[in-house]
Amino acid sequence: MKLIELTVDDIEKIRHTRNAVREWLFNTGEITRDQQVNWFLNTYSRNFEVVYLFYDGETYVGFCKFDPNTGIIAIMIEPEYQQLSYGYKCLKMFLEKCKGHKIYAEIKINNIPSINLFIKAGFKVESIKDYITMSRQM
Ligand SMILES: CC(C)(COP(=O)(O)OP(=O)(O)OC[C@H]1O[C@@H](n2cnc3c(N)ncnc32)[C@H](O)[C@@H]1OP(=O)(O)O)[C@@H](O)C(=O)NCCC(=O)NCCS
Repeated sequence: MKLIELTVDDIEKIRHTRNAVREWLFNTGEITRDQQVNWFLNTYSRNFEVVYLFYDGETYVGFCKFDPNTGIIAIMIEPEYQQLSYGYKCLKMFLEKCKGHKIYAEIKINNIPSINLFIKAGFKVESIKDYITMSRQM
């Protein structure tokens, strides 16, 4: 497995993944190509977010994004590659890059796959409101 930092050439890949799993996200609307480009120019290029793509050899399987200001991470695996251990392997690799940070995940209450994934990766429940916050000090 390898993690590759996002470039402008990859933004359609992450848009595809994000839209394919959007039922699990807080904003369930579809992201358009223009919105994705605007996000790249106005948010990503100004270092407000860090994004890594996950590859198994040459095959793209998903991505994670991290907000360095809040410590909030989100991970998304392409549906056809889910439940093949990619989420766990990739999350562990990404967390290696986060030493010294407290990392948070904000997860919908019904998102059992994600809650289980973060528990498996050593996260603990920090709070439960209308969503679950989990955290781990790296
Ligand atoms: C959550 C997500 C990243 C998991 O990725 P994945 O590659 O399918 O997960 P893995 O195959 O590595 O599984 C790791 C652990 O996650 C949990 N898990 C994964 N899929 C699950 C499912 N369908 N039901 C219950 N637990 C599940 C299990 O604990 C699993 O460990 P196990 O195999 O030892 O039981 C993936 O389902 C996804 O992209 N979901 C949509 C986006 C999302 O909700 N992201 C989280 C917001 S931060």
